[in-house]
Amino acid sequence: MKRILIQLDTDPLPSAFDRVVAIDADVDQLFSYGGVTPANATALVHGAIFTRAPADLKNTAIFIGGSRADAGEAVLEAVRKAFFGPMRVSAMLDSNGSNTTAAAAVRAASKHVTLDGALAVVLGGTGPVGHRAAQILASQGATVVVVSRDKDRADAVCRNIAGIHPDAQLQPASLSDGAGRLLESAQILIAAGAAGARFFQADEWRTPTLKTAIDLNAVPPAGLDGIGATDKAAVHGGVTCYGAIGVGGLKMKIHKAALARLFESNDRIIDTAEVYGLATGLA
Ligand SMILES: NC(=O)c1ccc[n+]([C@@H]2O[C@H](COP(=O)([O-])OP(=O)(O)OC[C@H]3O[C@@H](n4cnc5c(N)ncnc54)[C@H](OP(=O)(O)O)[C@@H]3O)[C@@H](O)[C@H]2O)c1
Repeated sequence: MKRILIQLDTDPLPSAFDRVVAIDADVDQLFSYGGVTPANATALVHGAIFTRAPADLKNTAIFIGGSRADAGEAVLEAVRKAFFGPMRVSAMLDSNGSNTTAAAAVRAASKHVTLDGALAVVLGGTGPVGHRAAQILASQGATVVVVSRDKDRADAVCRNIAGIHPDAQLQPASLSDGAGRLLESAQILIAAGAAGARFFQADEWRTPTLKTAIDLNAVPPAGLDGIGATDKAAVHGGVTCYGAIGVGGLKMKIHKAALARLFESNDRIIDTAEVYGLATGLA
């Protein structure tokens, strides 16, 4: 039976990136919908679950994407609500590549620092990618400083993560505190700012305690001065560094593996924790 992936994108145009990855992950048919909202998702889910016998539903799956993570989460909630009994298909959420990119970044960091008990700083921690990176780090026992230009926004992210992981050790912080204060004692630094956001100069972020630094911004200028986009475990000033393309290979591997996992059964929901779980088996 043909494997059909139904792409529900919250942006008006379904992401070309997500479409290419779906094809490269060998789905047989890809149905792409843009402008998906909780209100119009239900009919699309009904189309997915009422067309094949329950035993065959593992050959249909849903991928939720789009640039806004909150919109994606709302669509995932609507998708879940439309399922009942055996009438369900597996679904994955990866708005803006947030889960797969964050999982790849944290896996890269874990090669150099034991996450449990580490102190990690996430710059741009309010975006979809930074938020998920902070969530995964906290779930693995790291203390995470979530940084935003606006401390209230960082605090909102910390509260959201604490709602999912009540034992999480989280500290909201403002970017205006500066590298010296933010990075004091930190071993892990992840820069997940928007394209064009320049955080710190090389001599500011290369602190004596820092073991690994990952800059996820692929578009020049770098978020962390001195990290090249293709850096992959490159050592700069004693810090092991990764750039966006340096973690991109693992991100793609995780994304494709997650899509393959969707077609193993009809009842998987693949969100942040599941994506990270998959990533740990890959790298
Ligand atoms: N390597 C990969 O495979 C891959 C995949 C996906 C995404 N990415 C990259 O990962 C990064 C994060 O993605 P995203 O979608 O989470 O980003 P985003 O939502 O566009 O931005 C993340 C955060 O950056 C902060 N920011 C925006 N402009 C800033 C500025 N001028 N100075 C300082 N901070 C600023 C904002 O936080 P505040 O307003 O709260 O300060 C925002 O929430 C992007 O650079 C993206 O291109 C890489």
